[in-house]
Amino acid sequence: MKKLTLTFLTCVFAFSFAGIANAQTTMSSAAKDNSLYIALGEQSGITQLSDDFVTRLVADKRLAPFFEKTNLPNFKLQLADQFCTVSGGPCVYKGADMKSAHANFDIAKADFNALVEVLQQSMDAKAIPFKDQNKLLALLAPMHREVITVK
Ligand code: HEM
Repeated sequence: MKKLTLTFLTCVFAFSFAGIANAQTTMSSAAKDNSLYIALGEQSGITQLSDDFVTRLVADKRLAPFFEKTNLPNFKLQLADQFCTVSGGPCVYKGADMKSAHANFDIAKADFNALVEVLQQSMDAKAIPFKDQNKLLALLAPMHREVITVK
């Protein structure tokens, strides 16, 4: 009887352990597709992309007026964190949600398109492959609902 109980417990332990290990594998592969993060050049590539992007934004006549009062170093950090997070990197974006961040600005569809155009120029300058540019843009595009305030 004692032997039977021990065998039973061993089986329960083995199955539970296999279950936990399997669940962890499933969770990590489902939650962490970091291929875009890697294609963007990981942390250093994303930091450089964000720096270049913000430099171009404030040099663009259509967009510069929006950023007149912006703390640019902080904005660059927030953007880099956001790009890192959405591309599957090991960051957590801790900035404002997109609706609150843009609520005080009159942003129209044309402004949104201008910003996307500048981001594309930046990604071209950083030699990010076209397919990866499209992946990042596809992740950011739905944010137009929170960002555009002038209908
Ligand atoms: C998908 C498109 C966009 C993304 C992903 C995005 C992302 C961000 C992020 C991460 C912040 C920082 C929030 C924080 O500091 O907590 C921010 C702030 C801001 N964004 Fe955007 N943005 C987008 C579109 C636009 C557009 C189209 C404009 C205007 C043309 C714009 C103008 C601003 C301004 C003025 C701020 C505030 C900066 C400040 O604190 O002074 N954004 N955005």
